[in-house]
Amino acid sequence: MFGDDMRLTAQQMVAPGKGILAADESTGTMDKRLHAEGLESTEEVRRQYRELIVSTPKLDNSISGVILFDETIRQNSSEGTPLRRVVADNGVTPGIKVDKGAKPLAATDGEKVTEGLDGLRDRLAEYVDLGMKFTKWRAVLDIGQDRPSDRAVRANAHALGRYAALSQEAGLVPMVEPEVLMDGDHSLQAAEEATTRTLRAVFEELAAQGVELESMVLKPNMVVAGKDHQPQPSIDEVAETTVRTLRRTVPSAVPGIAFLSGGQSDEMATTNLNAINQLGPLPWQVTFSFGRGLLAPTLHEWSGKSENVERAQETLARRGKLNAAARDGRYNA
Ligand code: 13P
Repeated sequence: MFGDDMRLTAQQMVAPGKGILAADESTGTMDKRLHAEGLESTEEVRRQYRELIVSTPKLDNSISGVILFDETIRQNSSEGTPLRRVVADNGVTPGIKVDKGAKPLAATDGEKVTEGLDGLRDRLAEYVDLGMKFTKWRAVLDIGQDRPSDRAVRANAHALGRYAALSQEAGLVPMVEPEVLMDGDHSLQAAEEATTRTLRAVFEELAAQGVELESMVLKPNMVVAGKDHQPQPSIDEVAETTVRTLRRTVPSAVPGIAFLSGGQSDEMATTNLNAINQLGPLPWQVTFSFGRGLLAPTLHEWSGKSENVERAQETLARRGKLNAAARDGRYNA
């Protein structure tokens, strides 16, 4: 039953017409996002922002699951309902970021490895008690001269494998997120090479560590050129390269792929997701798990003012709807 439940949850997370909302920014990342809007980052401001998100009317029209941060699942709505319950009552599956962030990796030139494995089994048990159904762990790799190094790729893939196995042991569907960053001026080909190498290493580790592929979701980057690369490849080139990379590396036993937006503008992320799905049929469900791609315009609309809550929620619902269309290849820009 245990395995059947996880398989079902994974399938629901990537169900046609829906995608995942990543609202799991760590406090440090929230500080950056809120300061950029001229807002102070206090626990209360973050609580108001998260309440706005999870109480958006009919969020479940386009959102299957929301990834939360530890602070959020211990906070209550202004009416006193735990925010984690507001998510579930809104028809959306709650999940939780469980990594502790990317830290410098020894014997590299400033590359990073994601930490958080120590004590993870106990933390997962608590998250099960708090009603979480899935988890997320993000690894970060960057492209440059001799980067990502094999050392960084292997260390991160190994951590992802250990995390995913522990998550499934607890009955929680792992969202395995190896992000190859789009920072820099590298070509589309360089991104393809780095993403291919990374995904191969990740699936090797998932197999080596006994992770059941049917009970996970992959959260990769789209294969795009560095944001400073000129000229930028066309939408069709990005879609074809992304699909080729995924076909070469992701087993068809994986039920779904949910992309991060990774700093693409919200429209670009939606347009690319649409073009990727238009290349179907694909062996997996292919959807979104956007943070900034859904929330940047929402936060901007809100700007910390209670009178803007409704408009900000409409913005989130609209971006959700557009991405749900793109996820089925039916988006018209
Ligand atoms: P972005 O879509 O903003 O990249 O965030 C997704 C995410 O969950 C990063 O871990």
